[in-house]
Amino acid sequence: MQAKPAWFEAGFPHIWTPYSQMKTALPPLPVAGTGGVRIYLSDGRELIDGIASWWTACHGYNHPHIRAAVIRQLEVMPHVMFGGLTHEPALTLAAKLAAMLPGDLNHVFFTDSGSVAVEVAMKMAMQFWLNRGVRERTGFLAFRGGYHGDTLGTMAVCDPGEGMHSLFTGLLPPQPMLDLPVDEASIAAFDRFLDDHAGELAAILVEPLIQGAGGMIFHDADVLRRLRAAANKYSLILIFDEIFTGLARTGTMFACEVAGVVPDIITLSKALTGGTMALAATVATKQIFDGFWSNDSGHALMHGPTYMANALACAAAIASLELFDTEPRLEQVRAISAGLTDGLSPLRKVAGIKDVRVMGAVGVVQLDGLNDPKSLQRACVEAGIWVRPFRDIVYLTPSFTIGTDDLERLTGALTKVLAA
Ligand SMILES: Cc1ncc(COP(=O)(O)O)c(C=O)c1O
Repeated sequence: MQAKPAWFEAGFPHIWTPYSQMKTALPPLPVAGTGGVRIYLSDGRELIDGIASWWTACHGYNHPHIRAAVIRQLEVMPHVMFGGLTHEPALTLAAKLAAMLPGDLNHVFFTDSGSVAVEVAMKMAMQFWLNRGVRERTGFLAFRGGYHGDTLGTMAVCDPGEGMHSLFTGLLPPQPMLDLPVDEASIAAFDRFLDDHAGELAAILVEPLIQGAGGMIFHDADVLRRLRAAANKYSLILIFDEIFTGLARTGTMFACEVAGVVPDIITLSKALTGGTMALAATVATKQIFDGFWSNDSGHALMHGPTYMANALACAAAIASLELFDTEPRLEQVRAISAGLTDGLSPLRKVAGIKDVRVMGAVGVVQLDGLNDPKSLQRACVEAGIWVRPFRDIVYLTPSFTIGTDDLERLTGALTKVLAA
């Protein structure tokens, strides 16, 4: 293996990397470039990316259609502040999202990360009630296994035991946390809780169909219908965090479509720009938007990140959404689903493997325990694939453009590593 590049040696002592104990973590792998489903390391090795850069690069890396749109936009205007000014990419993207999303999810607020999009959704929900003079509805009912971000507000609605934020348990503003209502006992507990406490809640917050970073836990569409019915019954705002599931990952453009329910607020990010730029959107229905429509300036949504609606990011997102129209993404997701099911099924018989599950372009292998994630990560890199095991999970969420051969290589390499 070659020595690390000079820029790595000079810069690494000055960087703080995500979710890392800097003293003991494996040093990150220097990347020289990307293309298609591949990551090219500076030492000449190439890896098939099994997780599409944390689920963003849904069309593969460096897609020419997105690249051309970003370059065009760069020539015209990379960014202009969004306070008091506006621009074509932002408004075109907002109209496109409104047209794609179900129901009357028509009012788009742009931010620059998923966590902040969820913060904005929470703020919208809480202020919706405040604007009506209701001061008691400030809580958020969230669910065990959920993950909604790393900022302080979103940490309070993540599963406190999921590991990323457990150190802060008891120190953040407490939010009610229940099991998802999936069976008789949890449904009874959910109903009981709402009977007693609905008046203290602003909203119910959930990742529909798959709770991602909290453990890749699947649930079915009935759960979402139940949440919608409860939100209607108790006049609660229903927030779907589709930052992971949105944009075809679970097999339909938005996970909520499977249940035939429309949330009051939806959050999107990750694949929105096809993995090129930081962008997120919090989209509300007319009813929520109307809760802010007033002659009273105090009823305005007081939020405005400096880089909101960044023009380059909006141009990338428009191009990315166009690719869902011009290239057969949903068919590709169906093919990936079948490929993941076939490719990972030998692991069902391997000792130490608790579960293998697939939904859309998400394949999950759950182990009895993962004692040494670093060794596993190293073995995967040696086998030519990039994955990020966490907790007791190894998962695959490849780009939708991955070909049959590469998908077989990916599942084959993971199966071999895990079986060993
Ligand atoms: C469902 C969900 N919500 C929110 C977030 C936070 O997004 P970001 O990392 O862009 O802040 C994530 C990130 O993994 C996520 O999966």
